[in-house]
Amino acid sequence: MEVTISRQLASKWLKTNALLTNPYIARHIPSSRLFTPTNLRVMISRFGMVVVKPVCGAGGIGVIKVEKIGRAYKLTHKSNTRTFSSFDGLIRALNATRRKRAYLIQRGIHLARIGGRPIDYRVKYVKGNGMWTYRSMVGRLAKPGLFVTNLCRGGTQMTAAQGIRRSLSSKLVSAKKREMRQLTNAATTLLESRYPGVGHLGYDYGIDRNGHVWILEVNTRPQ
Ligand SMILES: Nc1ncnc2c1ncn2[C@@H]1O[C@H](COP(=O)(O)OP(=O)(O)O)[C@@H](O)[C@H]1O
Ligand SMILES: [Mg+2]
Repeated sequence: MEVTISRQLASKWLKTNALLTNPYIARHIPSSRLFTPTNLRVMISRFGMVVVKPVCGAGGIGVIKVEKIGRAYKLTHKSNTRTFSSFDGLIRALNATRRKRAYLIQRGIHLARIGGRPIDYRVKYVKGNGMWTYRSMVGRLAKPGLFVTNLCRGGTQMTAAQGIRRSLSSKLVSAKKREMRQLTNAATTLLESRYPGVGHLGYDYGIDRNGHVWILEVNTRPQ
C-alpha cells in the first residue's frame, strides 16, 4: 500500500471524515472534532460527556473521559478520576497528558453495561481471494474500574450474543448483530473506494443504553 494511504489510515480523524460522507453510516458515528479548548467547551456543553483520544492511537492508551457535573468537570484516565472547578484547570491537565499530540474529541456514548462495566464489540472483516469475510464478532467487557474495554487493558471477551443479551436483552441479539454486519459492509465499501488496498479491518462498535449502534473507531490493522 502507498505510504500516503497508510499514513491516512493511521488517523482516526481522516477515517471518521471519510465515513461521514455516507448519510446512512453518519447516523452511527459519534459527533467528533479535533481537540481545541473551544471545541472541548462546545462539545461538553452539547453532550455532557465526551471522550478525548489520540488521533493516532491504539490499545486504549491516552483515552480520557470528560464529564460536566454541575459546574465542575470530571476527568477519568485509566482508573483515576480528578475533578476541576475551572475549565482552565481541566485544559491544563489535558495538555499535560497530550503533550502537543493531536487529539480528537468524540461525543461520549453511554454504553450498555453488565454489572456496571461497559461493553463494546469488535468485528473483524478480512479480504482474501478478492472476497470480504467475517472473521469474528466478539463482545469486550471493560475491566472493573475502567471505561475502556480494550483486551490489552484487561477487558474480558465474550460472544457478541452473550454481550447483547446480558447488557440489553435477548430479544435484540439478532437485530443488533445484523445491524453491525450491515454497517460493516457499507463502511468497508466506502473505505475501500477511498483507500484501495485495505484488506484487514477491525470495527469497534458501541451499543448505547437505548440500543443505538455506534462506530467508535475502525482499525486498519487490528491485533
Ligand atoms: N465515544 C466514546 N464513548 C464511550 N466510550 C468510548 C468512546 N470512544 C472510545 N471509548 C472506549 O474506549 C475504548 C478505546 O477507544 P478507541 O476509540 O477504540 O481507541 P483505541 O484505538 O485506543 O482502541 C473503546 O473500546 C471504548 O471502550
Ligand atoms: Mg479500539
